[in-house]
Amino acid sequence: MAWKTLDDMDLNGKTVLTRVDINVPVADGKVTDDTRIQRIIPTIKDILAAGGKPVLLAHFGRPKGQVVPELSLAPLREALENALGSPVEFCDKAIGERAARAVNTLPEGATLLLENVRFYPGEARNGPKFAAALALMGDIYCNDAFSVSHRAHASTEALARLLPSCAGRLMQAELGALETALSTPQHPVVAVVGGAKVSTKLDLLGNLIEKVDQIVIGGGMANTFLAAQGIDVGKSLCEHDLADTARDILARAGAANCELILPVDVVVAREFKAGADNETVAADACPGNAMILDAGPKSVAQVGDIFAAAKTLVWNGPLGAFEIEPFNAATDAAALKAAELTKAGKLISVAGGGDTVAALNNSGAAKDFTYISTAGGAFLEWLEGKTLPGVAALGG
Ligand code: 3PG
Repeated sequence: MAWKTLDDMDLNGKTVLTRVDINVPVADGKVTDDTRIQRIIPTIKDILAAGGKPVLLAHFGRPKGQVVPELSLAPLREALENALGSPVEFCDKAIGERAARAVNTLPEGATLLLENVRFYPGEARNGPKFAAALALMGDIYCNDAFSVSHRAHASTEALARLLPSCAGRLMQAELGALETALSTPQHPVVAVVGGAKVSTKLDLLGNLIEKVDQIVIGGGMANTFLAAQGIDVGKSLCEHDLADTARDILARAGAANCELILPVDVVVAREFKAGADNETVAADACPGNAMILDAGPKSVAQVGDIFAAAKTLVWNGPLGAFEIEPFNAATDAAALKAAELTKAGKLISVAGGGDTVAALNNSGAAKDFTYISTAGGAFLEWLEGKTLPGVAALGG
C-alpha cells in the first residue's frame, strides 16, 4: 500500500486536520445510530496519545454550499465527547479567523469539531481556495472517512495534496478488509448482490463477474433476471426493459466462468405489507396477481451450501423485502449462515452499503461478520472497481 498511516507521521505538537464521516442518523436532535462515531474514536485517541491536536472536518447531509442551520454539526459535539471520553469543542465555522482562533486556543488533550464543510461551496467543487483555507490551519492531514472518499471534495481530495497526508485507523481497516475480499481474496469467492433494481448495479455486476466465482442475485433484481429468461413474475417489481441487459450479463458471466445464482423458489404475496398472506412457490410459478417478496427456503439452503464451500464472501443488498416481516426471512437465514461459518473460521465475510448493514443488524448476524463497512456509496463504487478520489489522493 502506497499510503501512509498515523504510524508514519510525527504527530507530537502538530495540528492534525482529520476528515471523518459522522453523517449519522439523527432524530429529535439525538443520534439514533452512533456506529460511525464509534468507528473514528481509535484515530482520535491515537492522535491525542501521540501529542497531536485533532481537528475534525466533517459534513452532515447535503446543504449544497449554503448554511442550513438544521444541518449544523453542533448537536453532534456531545455524542462525540461521550464516545471519546475526553473534551470536544465545537466551532461554528470551518475556515477563517474564528476557526483559526478555535484551533490555536484548543486546550491540550481536547479535540475540535469544525462546522459542516458542505456549508461552503468550495467543498463539493473541490475548490483549491477552500482547500488552501483549510490547510492553513493544520500541519498534517489524516483521512479517516473512507465512506466519503468516493467524493472528490476539498476536504477529501484537494486538501490531501496540500499537507503531508495519511490514512486514519478506520480508513486503514476499510481498505484492508476490501483488499482482502476483492483484490487478493482466497477463492472460491461468492458475492451476494441484492436490492431493488438491476439498473443501479450494472457496473458492480460487470466488475464482480471478472473477480468472483459465484454471484447470488437477490431482491427485486432477481425478478428481472427471471423475467429475462421468459419466466412470468406476475406483479413483482421488475425492470422488464432491462431484459436484454440481464441476458447480456448472464452471457458475460458464463464467459468469465462466474456462476449467477437465481432463486429456485420464492415467497409471494398479493400485497406489499408486513404480515401479508403469503405462499412459497417454485421460482417459475408466481401467480399472475402476486408479487415475489422473498427467496424461498430451498433457495436459502442452496445459498447456505454455496457459502459453506466458499472461502470469501462479499455482501451487498438484501435477498428480499427485508424491511417488512416476514419477508426478511431469507436475508436473515442466509446472513446467519454466513455469520456461523465466519465464527467457525471457515469464511471471510465482508458487507457494506446502507440497506445491507441495516439488514444484517436486524438479523443479529452483523457482529460475527469479519468486517462491516461504514460506507454506503463508497462501498458500491469500490465494488464497481472505481478509483476513489479520496483514496487516490493519499497515494493509494
Ligand atoms: C454517506 O452517508 O454515505 C456518506 O456520508 C456520504 O454522503 P453523501 O452521499 O452525501 O456524499
